[in-house]
Amino acid sequence: MKEEDFLPDAVPAPLVVEFIEEEFEHADLDSISSAEPRTQVDLPIAEPTPSGRARVVTVMNQKGGVGKTTTVINVATHLALNGVRVLVVDCDQQGNCATGLGIDKSRVKHTTRTLFTEPELAPACRHATAVQGLHLVVGERSLVGLEQDLSTMLGRERCLHEGLESLLPHYDIVFLDTAPSLGLVTINALVASDAVLVPVQTEFFALEGVAMLASTIREVRRRLNPRLGFDGVMMTMHAPTLLNSQVKSQLVETFGDLIVEPPIRRNIKLAEAPSEGIPIHIHAPESNGGRDYSALAQNLALRWGLQMK
Ligand SMILES: Nc1ncnc2c1ncn2[C@@H]1O[C@H](COP(=O)(O)OP(=O)(O)O)[C@@H](O)[C@H]1O
Ligand SMILES: [Mg+2]
Repeated sequence: MKEEDFLPDAVPAPLVVEFIEEEFEHADLDSISSAEPRTQVDLPIAEPTPSGRARVVTVMNQKGGVGKTTTVINVATHLALNGVRVLVVDCDQQGNCATGLGIDKSRVKHTTRTLFTEPELAPACRHATAVQGLHLVVGERSLVGLEQDLSTMLGRERCLHEGLESLLPHYDIVFLDTAPSLGLVTINALVASDAVLVPVQTEFFALEGVAMLASTIREVRRRLNPRLGFDGVMMTMHAPTLLNSQVKSQLVETFGDLIVEPPIRRNIKLAEAPSEGIPIHIHAPESNGGRDYSALAQNLALRWGLQMK
């Protein structure tokens, strides 16, 4: 064998858990749920909204596909249908908010990018949606280039904060939908926000994701936005399996009052709605997904002190 063909053994990793190749009986699994939570996560609670302006809430989880955009679209719609003035800013280059709300993003002139780079144009960045009282700033591919442009800019973490400033007195709540990565666009969202709302899937890695997020939030609080805190953790794509229920009890045990009920059940109507460009409250309001998001939005409105008609 030639010397360059030799690959040394992988370094043994420090294992957290010893894996035993053996199927657990249900009785063993039950004992997991009654055990102490393994991760203690200390989450700073967000401060109340200053009077006369919108609360700004970033919906965030560094994991993709956990239901961030679905939550933004459906909570925003429920609130707007009940008389709350809502602005959604899509900070994800995928631009799923526009699709979900039936807006053709290729025909939009001013987008989230404009809001970052030309704050004086902020009013022109908002687009009316089919839902009265719900406005959207469209995110799309140009956010990729923005990430690079920001990196050389002075005050690069505060562009969105500046862009939103003139709009805040005209809304009750602003939702910032984020990409699953932690780039400068997402940092801008955190700097512009009062609070973070975290959707988690009731799957095994849920707690680890939130622990990582908590350390990001602490770092942003320390260096850039001391007001930032958590408004809640909500559960998505919940299915009636033993594992989902165990993860749910573990999340409730770990986050206590920060958990916003109810968990959103896995529901095909929620997955179908975006393809039609209409939110669940119009597509299938009586579906499990429609009911769960209505109940969740009501509980959030209570926390935020939003007046619903
Ligand atoms: N409760 C649910 N039941 C079924 N499908 C869902 C549910 N929530 C979201 N989905 C679907 O899962 C996929 C990922 O959701 P999405 O909201 O886009 O996640 P994220 O924004 O975190 O990437 C989408 O196709 C969406 O339609
Ligand atoms: Mg998304």
